[in-house]
Amino acid sequence: MSNSSPLNGKRIVLGVGGGIAAYKSVELLRQLVDRGAFVSPVLTQSSLRFVGETTFSALGSERARTSLWEGDDPIPHTLLGQRADVIVVSPATADLIAKYAAGIADDLLTTTLVATNAPVVMVAAMHTEMWQHPSVVENIATLRRRGVIVIEPESGRLAGGDIGVGRLATAERVVTTVEGLFSRADKRELLSGKRVLVTAGGTREAIDPVRYIGNRSSGKQGIAFAEVAADFGAEVTLVSTVPVTEGLAIKVIEVESAQEMFDAVFALADESDLVVMAAAVADFRSKLISPTKIKKKNGAPQIVLEPTPDILAGLGSAKRKNQVIVGFAAETGDPETEARRKLRDKNADFVVANNVLEPDAGFAVDTNRVTLVYGDSMVSLALSDKRDIASRILSFVAEWAFKQSVWSE
Ligand code: C5P
Repeated sequence: MSNSSPLNGKRIVLGVGGGIAAYKSVELLRQLVDRGAFVSPVLTQSSLRFVGETTFSALGSERARTSLWEGDDPIPHTLLGQRADVIVVSPATADLIAKYAAGIADDLLTTTLVATNAPVVMVAAMHTEMWQHPSVVENIATLRRRGVIVIEPESGRLAGGDIGVGRLATAERVVTTVEGLFSRADKRELLSGKRVLVTAGGTREAIDPVRYIGNRSSGKQGIAFAEVAADFGAEVTLVSTVPVTEGLAIKVIEVESAQEMFDAVFALADESDLVVMAAAVADFRSKLISPTKIKKKNGAPQIVLEPTPDILAGLGSAKRKNQVIVGFAAETGDPETEARRKLRDKNADFVVANNVLEPDAGFAVDTNRVTLVYGDSMVSLALSDKRDIASRILSFVAEWAFKQSVWSE
């Protein structure tokens, strides 16, 4: 197994915080080592109240460290952080999350976190009340803004017999997320030479110069698709309703309405090998747009709606050979059934379905839980951050396109 895992040969610092879930990190450690990673365990003082140092020393690739001040250790804290390919903190307690968000470095683990440029994965576990406390919510948002990957806790039985959100994610889920970080790097060439068109954000349909009909899409999932496609070597154009900074491999076209998005997409569709329609395009717009602000004193206006052009359906009916089209189905009911209908009606190759009523999926949050529907099949992806979701979907779609000879090697 170790040779086929992208973790083979990677240096991982496994930080263990002081929570009851610390015992589950023993299994995580074992699975990381099984995949060929060199794992250095770092235990906080409070974790030692829950688990024994000897267990981590015995199963780790080197002995566990527990203090900044171990007399005979010639390795300063900065080296651990500098040498690491990734740092995984499991369990990440409310205390550790707060310290890391504030840049506090008062023990070996927090010092290592502050002294690293490597990706950091925080596997959160705590009581529901703590997870929902505004300070924790804000600290998590801060960490995510800085690029830290937070694996959110799952629902289930917690210490003390309570049931709720707070349980540490399974070792399998953590390993998949960490592997995803490295398979990305291994996939640098996967889309090389391919032109990828991505749409992102919700369209705004004007009513008058100040008002519009809009939706809650943040553009995060679409932007993640554009970034990951660029990481995979593609030449990317992102048609977006939210402002995005251009990158070396990402050209950005800003639009506002469904019509503008339609025009931008169709100007590029023919030359695109892959189109990812992640945008939430309004289905209806106002038939008339008042050139001046509608005045309150004239009473409530009648706004007559008309349908917008369906960009995805248009793309599907004009689909050229060697082109792959991915659509989305943000639903509040049964996403799979709707996705299958859209796949057929809009002649897409894939539809990514999600239920936007789930608290950790869909609009504005950083995570998503989706099902990829294609042909007569479908594959469900576990809850993950939107970048990881984009990475897994693009890998799957690219491999499918090569296997089906839609694309040639
Ligand atoms: O039919 P529904 O709006 O749910 O379809 C969602 C999919 O269709 C998304 O991929 C969205 O980008 C695309 N769409 C479109 N043009 C529209 C409406 C939706 O391209 N007018």
